[in-house]
Amino acid sequence: MTPPRPISLTRFLIQEQQAGHINADLRLLIEVVARACKSIATAVGKGALGGVLGDAGTGNIQGEAQKKLDVLSNEILLEANEWGGHLAGLASEEMEHAHPIPNAYPKGNYLLLFDPLDGSSNIDVNVAVGTIFSVLRCPDGVTEPGDAHFLQPGRAQVCAGYTIYGPSTLLVLTVGRGTHAFTLDREQGSFILTRESIRIPEAAQEFAINTSNQRHWHPCVQAYVADLVAGAAGPRGRDFNMRWVASMVADVHRILTRGGVFLYPADRKDLSKPGRLRLMYEANPMAFIVEQAGGAASTGIGPLMDLVPIGLHQRVPVVLGSRDEVAVVERYHRDPAHSPAGCASPAPA
Ligand code: AHG
Ligand code: MN
Ligand code: MN
Repeated sequence: MTPPRPISLTRFLIQEQQAGHINADLRLLIEVVARACKSIATAVGKGALGGVLGDAGTGNIQGEAQKKLDVLSNEILLEANEWGGHLAGLASEEMEHAHPIPNAYPKGNYLLLFDPLDGSSNIDVNVAVGTIFSVLRCPDGVTEPGDAHFLQPGRAQVCAGYTIYGPSTLLVLTVGRGTHAFTLDREQGSFILTRESIRIPEAAQEFAINTSNQRHWHPCVQAYVADLVAGAAGPRGRDFNMRWVASMVADVHRILTRGGVFLYPADRKDLSKPGRLRLMYEANPMAFIVEQAGGAASTGIGPLMDLVPIGLHQRVPVVLGSRDEVAVVERYHRDPAHSPAGCASPAPA
């Protein structure tokens, strides 16, 4: 018997279009983003030989030092997406404001947001990094979208995905009909469907949180993690393992593969920053991907994707992963024994 032919990303997207689930513009958009991610994968893979390691010597709007690969990945995504006619505008972690498509090019009806290089602190130590992206519709009648037009809740996303540049390069994608993973065949240069309709196990055995922030955590997070660490002898009655890669793509990818819970909560380290991760191009796309895989995504007090954004670069507390465990984290947030300060207050902007 001949083995089934592998399904490429191109074929998968054409099938989605033929079934009426996506239109030609969204198909082109995803293809273009995937192509740009292949270029980023090549640059990441060259490492020191490509002269791409180290600091760029510049900073972004968030006050973070940019790595050479942050800047290069942003340029690759910008250049690839400007001229195809599928977008009205773009926004990026590395750009202060939205970037409308120049009038010299045809314009489409979609908005693309991205974190061009996620996990930048891992670049120079040869640990997995990634790209995260989110697609929204441009509001009707808007031809030059500004920041305000991007400020739509996560529920409005029509597509979200990430690429992980690890031992292999994978593209994980949802267009609202499940979450699917494609592995880059480096010889052929195409992404091949390798995991269809991913399901996250409902119960967690692993948790991911940066414990060096422990002294800054709110009481609900302190109590939750203390009970996990207490293991079989504690109130949870079983042992949990801990993993922290410090690339959200890698931590989320592990959870998509074998379950678990990821937390980057708000804390008292810097009260002007409600959490570390950015809502529009980190938290929302990951939340969409995780929910489409049967998991859950929360701010700790409610569904993450229901938040109404107020800023392109706003930060947000993030709890996501196995559904039952996210519900447990929410219970600790609601429990008056671990409050009153911080935990049960509305998600800060
Ligand atoms: P970025 O490299 O795009 O700025 O994102 C880094 C994020 C995320 O990937 C990761 O989960 C988190 O920051 C790591 O935070 P710590 O430095 O606190 O470990
Ligand atoms: Mn990031
Ligand atoms: Mn980044």
